[in-house]
Amino acid sequence: MTNRRPSSARWLEEHRNDPYVAAARRDGYRSRAAYKLIEIDAAMAARNGGRGLLHRGNVVVELGAAPGGWTQVAAVRVGAAGRVVALDLLPMDPVPGALILLGDFLDDAILEPLRAGLGPSGQADVVLSDMAPNMTGFKVADQGRGALLAEAAFDFAFSVLRPGGGVVLKLFQGPDFHGQVRRARTHFDFVKVEKPPASRDRSAELYLIGTGFRPDSVSFPEEFSDRGMPCES
Ligand SMILES: C[S@@+](CC[C@H](N)C(=O)[O-])C[C@H]1O[C@@H](n2cnc3c(N)ncnc32)[C@H](O)[C@@H]1O
Repeated sequence: MTNRRPSSARWLEEHRNDPYVAAARRDGYRSRAAYKLIEIDAAMAARNGGRGLLHRGNVVVELGAAPGGWTQVAAVRVGAAGRVVALDLLPMDPVPGALILLGDFLDDAILEPLRAGLGPSGQADVVLSDMAPNMTGFKVADQGRGALLAEAAFDFAFSVLRPGGGVVLKLFQGPDFHGQVRRARTHFDFVKVEKPPASRDRSAELYLIGTGFRPDSVSFPEEFSDRGMPCES
């Protein structure tokens, strides 16, 4: 392996020694990322008298789902009475109980199949986003692309969440971060930012958890934005 760049050699070494990688293999999860959602939900349950974010019968939208660790967790938690609509740019293998959509969340054409997947109510109990851009190594460009995905996920969540619904959205530390948290605080009764233990220290990712969505905090003026999304009051 003489021609391997030091960073990929370090990644391989880390991967080999990573307890979450071993646990995912043992527990049948497709990715170590599954434990981030499990830990976030457990932390919510611990502070909320045992009540986590994902419940039997929930309708869940998941953005940036491949290879499917979060999808596996969500599909088991919502059970046969619920539904999970999972989207990614990349193809992924089926997950029992989940509708898998292939497409770019930033492409308006995907909004209609996403909404159709929600079922008759057209509403979601929970919106999850673990979307991450392909990192270029150029900090400003990467932060900008991460922020764009997070903003689009917020807009979408505000347009489909039922009153009282919740989100778990991946955010990236950077110039837009505090504004995004402030934005969430105007629309949810409870907002918390978590770095679950399964998230690597060197990753700039953080997860915003919002519960108790207040639809009346979002206004729907006659003029809609390009994506048919509501504007905020
Ligand atoms: C960290 S991975 C998700 C891991 C997943 N949560 C799991 O448990 O396996 C981030 C995903 O976001 C997806 N993604 C990035 N930009 C996207 C976009 N514009 N539309 C849809 N998916 C996107 C990537 O293709 C990638 O699969």
